[in-house]
Amino acid sequence: MTTELVRPQPDHSGPDAGDVLTLDDLAVHFGGIKAVDGITLGLARGRISGILGPNGSGKSTLLGAITRLTPLTRGTLRFEGRDYSRVRPEAVARLGIGRTFQTVRLLEDLTVRENVQLGHDLIAGARPWWRRPGKADRETADAAVATALERTGLAGKEALRPGQLSYGLQRRVEIARAIVMSPKLLLLDEPTAGMNRFEREEIGELMADLRAEGLTQLIVEHDVQMMVDVCDHLFAMNSGRLIASGTPSDVVRDPAVREAYLGRQDNDDRDS
Ligand SMILES: Nc1ncnc2c1ncn2[C@@H]1O[C@H](COP(=O)(O)OP(=O)(O)OP(=O)(O)O)[C@@H](O)[C@H]1O
Ligand SMILES: [Mg+2]
Repeated sequence: MTTELVRPQPDHSGPDAGDVLTLDDLAVHFGGIKAVDGITLGLARGRISGILGPNGSGKSTLLGAITRLTPLTRGTLRFEGRDYSRVRPEAVARLGIGRTFQTVRLLEDLTVRENVQLGHDLIAGARPWWRRPGKADRETADAAVATALERTGLAGKEALRPGQLSYGLQRRVEIARAIVMSPKLLLLDEPTAGMNRFEREEIGELMADLRAEGLTQLIVEHDVQMMVDVCDHLFAMNSGRLIASGTPSDVVRDPAVREAYLGRQDNDDRDS
């Protein structure tokens, strides 16, 4: 744990030299709304970290800030030790950060394969402008797309359009589109919202498989039991601030977390 850094709020997190991503005093304000208000944390390499927090506590805004889609009010973003606080959003995927969105964002006129291919093309765009994609590039792309579809359980569904898939499978297409870029960090914003228990477990298993391959992940979810089952580390947010950080069992027992979040859940005691 780094101790020499002076932190503006109680250190719940302790960014570590081995962390893939570190946030230092990150803030995103929308006028008077302090959606993210001074977050300092680090994501351990190869681990699944989760963020709990009530509606409107700033979780999605934080993911937006990490991917540079949402401008920062202040603070620093570091990926693999490199300050990327000012890079353009398009460059973030090439750094090795992939994401899925809280609401499914797939192109309805494209097939499953083509939607996933888009993720690959984003990275392939790093090729010099004068070098047109050749046969070898296309073969590499096809293989990467096939692997991503296979890993997300979508093999055989390549030719379908998103509208022909269940909601759970559409979510998987989004995950495939993110992992086809071979990210080093995957951000998942409520990937199991609207899914049944069985589909949620499947997503949890997929995340564990990706972790086994070394992928660092950050997930936002309201399903406390799933978060405890899936995550190695939990953060809790309230009103744009970090109110807890630690092992899942410690965080869900934390009085401040229960007060802010769990206490409002009907199934509070059974779920935690
Ligand atoms: N583009 C925006 N402009 C103005 N206010 C915004 C914007 N995006 C988010 N907010 C506000 O910032 C706060 C945090 O919103 P955010 O979507 O990050 O919360 P969340 O924790 O993801 O909530 P949920 O669990 O409902 O998804 C809310 O008060 C929200 O209304
Ligand atoms: Mg959200």
